[in-house]
Amino acid sequence: MKPLHSIQITAVGAYAPPKVLTNTELSTIVDTSDEWIRSHTGIGERHIAEKEQTTSDLAMLAVEDLLARFGRSKDEIDGIVVATATSDYPGFPSTACLLAERLGTSGPALDVSAGCTGFIYALEVARAMILSNSMRNALVIGAEKLSSVINWKDRNTCVLFGDGAGCVLLEQDSSKQGLLDTLLKAEGAGSGALTIDPGQRCITMEGRAVYNFAVRSIGETILSLVQRNNLTIDDIDWIVPHQANKRIISACAKRYSLNEDAFYLNIEHYANTSAASIPLALAEMQKKGLLKEGQKLLFVGFGAGLTYGGSLLVWHQS
Ligand code: ACO
Repeated sequence: MKPLHSIQITAVGAYAPPKVLTNTELSTIVDTSDEWIRSHTGIGERHIAEKEQTTSDLAMLAVEDLLARFGRSKDEIDGIVVATATSDYPGFPSTACLLAERLGTSGPALDVSAGCTGFIYALEVARAMILSNSMRNALVIGAEKLSSVINWKDRNTCVLFGDGAGCVLLEQDSSKQGLLDTLLKAEGAGSGALTIDPGQRCITMEGRAVYNFAVRSIGETILSLVQRNNLTIDDIDWIVPHQANKRIISACAKRYSLNEDAFYLNIEHYANTSAASIPLALAEMQKKGLLKEGQKLLFVGFGAGLTYGGSLLVWHQS
């Protein structure tokens, strides 16, 4: 049997489309302002995909970044797990199967639907599948073209989101500890607060309800993961949260007595990229040299479902 904690993140990659839409440009489309968006969310700009670019295109470019950054070959890839709410097709083929075709892989390929918590869920699905020998390794990808499900006339939502993709490679190595623990939750009773309207194909949201849920779920996830692994919050080097709103993180840090500086935030330049936001942030941290051998990281996500959850892991330099 494979040791339970032996699954490692061994490579990361990301892609954000080059086209940038600033708050000031948005204020020419809807009744808003740079000042309102920054003060209420911490967002300054977002990346927007080209019309013909699909979610699987964004995912593929993130995978190419991973392969190039870490000198890996696509021939090494076995399984593919994609977290997305904006797959190219509403049914099949899944985004993961489209990537399997492009990468020429023949291992398992599946999409996971858990809103902005999708990357955390996908990581756990892939970890469990590697441990059960369903696949040797896995690309775990968060990819979203949220610009395709935005009502650009609704200032309550259109200012919040952006496009992008991030990915990690998960592999087994018995010589060290990698993913230590995962917490996954869903409160279906609140599902109406955040949806993609099937008729209009656009995001609808009760902002305040989601805000309150987010502050509570982030705080509870962090404290649960820390406590049940006999750690203290000071043992965590970085918290990499789903990037939805800077104010949510500040309120959470205050309410649960957490050090706000331990949270890595890049929302100012990407806005909320849903399932892509955690791997996008992680890839940026890796690029900036912020991740060091042996550091403990805690990913925490929340979103449609209402789902939430977190992953605790040890980072290793590859
Ligand atoms: N520009 C200017 N004014 C605006 C805008 C805008 N873009 N959007 C709303 N307003 C106005 C409202 O109309 C309202 O005006 P009124 O008082 O005249 O009625 C006023 O600003 C305040 O609106 P609130 O909704 O109370 O503002 P709030 O402080 O709650 O901030 C926000 C709104 C930013 C949406 C906040 O509730 C929030 O962050 N919620 C969580 C959102 C989120 O994280 N969603 C995604 C999570 S899951 C996922 O990632 C898919």
